[in-house]
Amino acid sequence: AGDAKIAPVGFLEKYPALTTGFFFFMWYFLNVIFNILNKKIYNYFPYPYFVSVIHLFVGVVYCLVSWSVGLPKRAPMDSNLLKLLIPVAVCHALGHVTSNVSFAAVAVSFTHTIKALEPFFNAAASQFILGQQIPLTLWLSLAPVVLGVSMASLTELSFNWLGFISAMISNISFTYRSIYSKKAMTDMDSTNLYAYISIIALIVCIPPALILEGPQLIKHGFGDAIAKVGLTKFVTDLFWVGMFYHLYNQLATNTLERVAPLTHAVGNVLKRVFVIGFSIVVFGNKISTQTGIGTCIAIAGVAIYSFIKARMEEEKRQTKAA
Ligand code: 3PG
Repeated sequence: AGDAKIAPVGFLEKYPALTTGFFFFMWYFLNVIFNILNKKIYNYFPYPYFVSVIHLFVGVVYCLVSWSVGLPKRAPMDSNLLKLLIPVAVCHALGHVTSNVSFAAVAVSFTHTIKALEPFFNAAASQFILGQQIPLTLWLSLAPVVLGVSMASLTELSFNWLGFISAMISNISFTYRSIYSKKAMTDMDSTNLYAYISIIALIVCIPPALILEGPQLIKHGFGDAIAKVGLTKFVTDLFWVGMFYHLYNQLATNTLERVAPLTHAVGNVLKRVFVIGFSIVVFGNKISTQTGIGTCIAIAGVAIYSFIKARMEEEKRQTKAA
């Protein structure tokens, strides 16, 4: 049993780049499946607050079972750590629910195009909330991102304000999540950390789901869904979407532990490229030429922005070292 434990660790140490590549691949893979299954559910069961609770609930049960068998061993929690994690988890919950309200309201590709603006919100937060000076060149490099998303939005066939605004709120929430995450840097491993964040986020998501969707769900929500697809498919879809949601987020956190935050942010945008592409193919969404061009400009803009930012950080490091 000892050998079996040592072998994988040796492999991870021996081929770190391969392991990181595998983490990225799994993160993308799980995310694409999550996005497709999730939208299929919204097409017959349009209750994003409730489905968001299910995503987190399945993840929490998975974490509790994992802890109970010691894989991983549960890290201890204390009130100080809890105080640091609560804001991270509240932002995680808010960003999660608002992303899902948008997924349910518009095409998946459109929500992810808006979510490609996240680096822009991060830059704005660094300057206006954290007081860090963002150089003008970096701001200018974000112009194509804003232009691309605007172009894409203006002719998006599935456009509606609910989908647009909630995806924007999710950008703000996830930006705050990254600010609070920096303050909550701990020695805890990423798997344990994400497990605790999921538990707190689940508690946060339950009341709005009950208040906003509870009565409608009981009246016809569940009944309609079961009439359309049958009980077994309804329950298995909810179970798997929750598993994929939890695993892709856990993989995303594990990947963040292995690479620089900027690499992670770029990786996250690249992930959206895959999701946009696959969702258009799977759902056969029609997109106008302007939306297609706008989406490409936005994504290319994020790539340029990340490149300039990486170069600036490298220069900063070199001046510090000199
Ligand atoms: C969610 O449900 O929280 C969204 O899928 C989040 O999207 P992201 O992880 O791609 O930002």
